[in-house]
Amino acid sequence: MKFFLDTASLKDISWAAQAGLIDGVTTNPTLLAKQAGDLDPRDVLKEICSLVEGPVSAEVVALDTDGMVREGSELAKIADNIVVKIPMTEAGMVAVRRLATDGMKTNVTLCFSSVQCLIAAKAGATYVSPFIGRLDDVGQEGMDVIREARVIFDNYQLATEILAASIRHPRHVVEAAMIGADVATLPADVLKKLLLHPLTDRGLEQFLADWNQRVARAKAAV
Ligand code: G3P
Repeated sequence: MKFFLDTASLKDISWAAQAGLIDGVTTNPTLLAKQAGDLDPRDVLKEICSLVEGPVSAEVVALDTDGMVREGSELAKIADNIVVKIPMTEAGMVAVRRLATDGMKTNVTLCFSSVQCLIAAKAGATYVSPFIGRLDDVGQEGMDVIREARVIFDNYQLATEILAASIRHPRHVVEAAMIGADVATLPADVLKKLLLHPLTDRGLEQFLADWNQRVARAKAAV
């Protein structure tokens, strides 16, 4: 399973990339607006693309097909690893088809049902992003979308990758991985939590205490 970092924070992306923990990055207008402030968002995206070798999703804000294709084509010029993020709408699906025909990679975002994922795959999306956490928030089982999409994509050998998005905690990652999602995009705090277990800390503390005791005993015996 590939891990993407779901952020536009240069600090977090540098950390995760240097630690070798991520295979790519996803951004959205909310995340980019937070990071960019007064800067040109294109410059922020350019910097992100230089920090990671893998795909970097950048979202269009136009709502009509022509606008999305125009914006997507401009975004794709920023760097070779840009993936154009397109919302799951009728206009969006026409844009995905056109961008794919022109050789651009796309990530269909704001998917909340497996049939939306199927539509996006049929349009030629490189990735589909079902939003797990936001479904859980409204009392639905977000992981069901991943489960159904996996079966459907396997039934028809669809090459579109399932990108589990809106991940809120490590259990989401485990479940998505067990189902066979191709990618999970994680906020930095969730990625950090994947490394942690209290028994690891306790075990390490015990190993060092035992070792230091042995060293002290050996010193005292001299
Ligand atoms: O980037 C899309 C998605 O991962 C957003 O997550 O936490 O805002 O629902 P969240």
